[in-house]
Amino acid sequence: MQAHRIKNLFSAIARHYDFLNALLSLRRDKVWRQETVKASEVEPTSKVLDVCTGTGELALAYTDKLDTDGFVIGSDFCFEMLVIGDQKLQQPVGTVSKRTTSFLAADTLTLPFLDNTFDIVSVGFGIRNVSDLEMGIREMTRVAAPGGRVVILEFTQPVNPLFRSLYYFYFTKVLPFLGNLISRNKDDAYGYLPRSVMKFPDCNALKQVMEQCGLTDVRYHRKTFGIVAIHVGKKPKNIY
Ligand SMILES: C[S@@+](CC[C@H](N)C(=O)[O-])C[C@H]1O[C@@H](n2cnc3c(N)ncnc32)[C@H](O)[C@@H]1O
Repeated sequence: MQAHRIKNLFSAIARHYDFLNALLSLRRDKVWRQETVKASEVEPTSKVLDVCTGTGELALAYTDKLDTDGFVIGSDFCFEMLVIGDQKLQQPVGTVSKRTTSFLAADTLTLPFLDNTFDIVSVGFGIRNVSDLEMGIREMTRVAAPGGRVVILEFTQPVNPLFRSLYYFYFTKVLPFLGNLISRNKDDAYGYLPRSVMKFPDCNALKQVMEQCGLTDVRYHRKTFGIVAIHVGKKPKNIY
């Protein structure tokens, strides 16, 4: 889908996005983000960029792991999604120091950062929506520091045929119906979700794209019967 249509789609559902994520994933979305943070091997002093951050849920999952020498920037090109993320910084949660977290309007295809800047560059449920997958991953790789990680959490297609047919019924029929109804979306925003997942490369193909973009040691882990997968690749130390 073209970038301006993606932006409009997310601005239309921004208000309901977090609620519907939790409802439609039966609260697995938070667990998947925690697992993504763990897979990234984040350290308290890490410099993290979370692209396509939306309402900032993955960025904020990193915040909890950082001390004041680390930081996380969440970037997205949809202002309405970012505003909701930014509001979360005003609410004190636990002992988290939100001073280490900020949000920024930026296109993932042209990130406003110097080469070799971040220890971790992550994306959660976002790279599938970027209009040019390879260009998006190349740009994430460019701003990652040598030795740093590029981490992708994305929906994928379950492998077990029985589970897959049950899940597809839910994913292609029930989820779009409930999502469009609750968000009162007339443009079938929640029908776009399964359609885009079906077209997205499978785990091995995504691994290959990451390797083509210069990442090494690319590994992936399927989660929850393969509904999602977490890919992690390293930027070689001698790349630039
Ligand atoms: C499904 S949401 C994911 C939000 C969040 N990462 C999460 O874990 O829930 C996808 C986000 O990608 C953003 N997006 C898509 N293409 C983009 C691009 N080229 N540059 C920046 N953001 C983009 C959309 O605006 C949207 O907020």
